Amino acid sequence: MSTRKFSIFRYNPNTPEVKPFMQEYTIEEPPGMTIFVALNKIREELDPTLMFDFVCRAAICGSCAMVINGKPRLACKTLTGDLKGTVTLMPLPVFKLIGDLSVDTGTWFRHLSVKTKSWIHSSKEFDPNAIEDRMDNETALEIYEAERCIECGCCIAGCVTANIREDFLGAAGINRVARFMVDPRDERSKKEYFEVIGSDEGAFGCMGLMACDDNCPMQLPLQMQLSFVRRKMVSFGLSAK
Ligand code: SF4
Ligand code: SF4
Ligand code: FES
Repeated sequence: MSTRKFSIFRYNPNTPEVKPFMQEYTIEEPPGMTIFVALNKIREELDPTLMFDFVCRAAICGSCAMVINGKPRLACKTLTGDLKGTVTLMPLPVFKLIGDLSVDTGTWFRHLSVKTKSWIHSSKEFDPNAIEDRMDNETALEIYEAERCIECGCCIAGCVTANIREDFLGAAGINRVARFMVDPRDERSKKEYFEVIGSDEGAFGCMGLMACDDNCPMQLPLQMQLSFVRRKMVSFGLSAK
């Protein structure tokens, strides 16, 4: 069986006296091995101290995102056989480092949800006995498409603006706002959305180079969402002058 070499970022913020370094490991590489399987093998057979995150192993939970050979990707969805030479693994930038390859995306996405007020804003009283409002198929599909975001953070990690501006909501934030904008149950006005996303923290901080679109493992139409939200914000900005 062939072998594969890994070069993995190591740093534990709880022991700052040990400076960050790259550690090499070599393991056997069976056909169809994912980075997830490789990391578990390394942890089980070579180094129980290695830190990384996984839950679902099926590209659903978003917790295994890391920088694989320079690109943000999901470890459970990436086959070592598709990569050349030594596999380099780094933690996602932007997010708080927990240790080695493990980062705290949860706090960041929680902030995003609060900042974008990610819930349906409706003045209707909730009536558990009422028949649900009908929604046309096309709108439901648009909402479903935006909802496919698994909050992995790949779009944020590869975004130039998010790497230099701590408060930038990134493509994930803009996608989230687009989700509510198309929802007919949400009664927020353009002005209210403008207050959330019509600044450099949102639609106007984006440089439009589309790294987010390239890096999204769910192939969300981020480019389309960015231009949709930006168009709405520009038209509101102009009409408010
Ligand atoms: S297009 Fe905008 S949101 Fe996407 S990576 Fe570039 S700056 Fe970031
Ligand atoms: S938009 Fe795509 S890359 Fe960004 S957090 Fe959601 S699933 Fe991940
Ligand atoms: S482990 Fe859940 S997305 Fe990879």
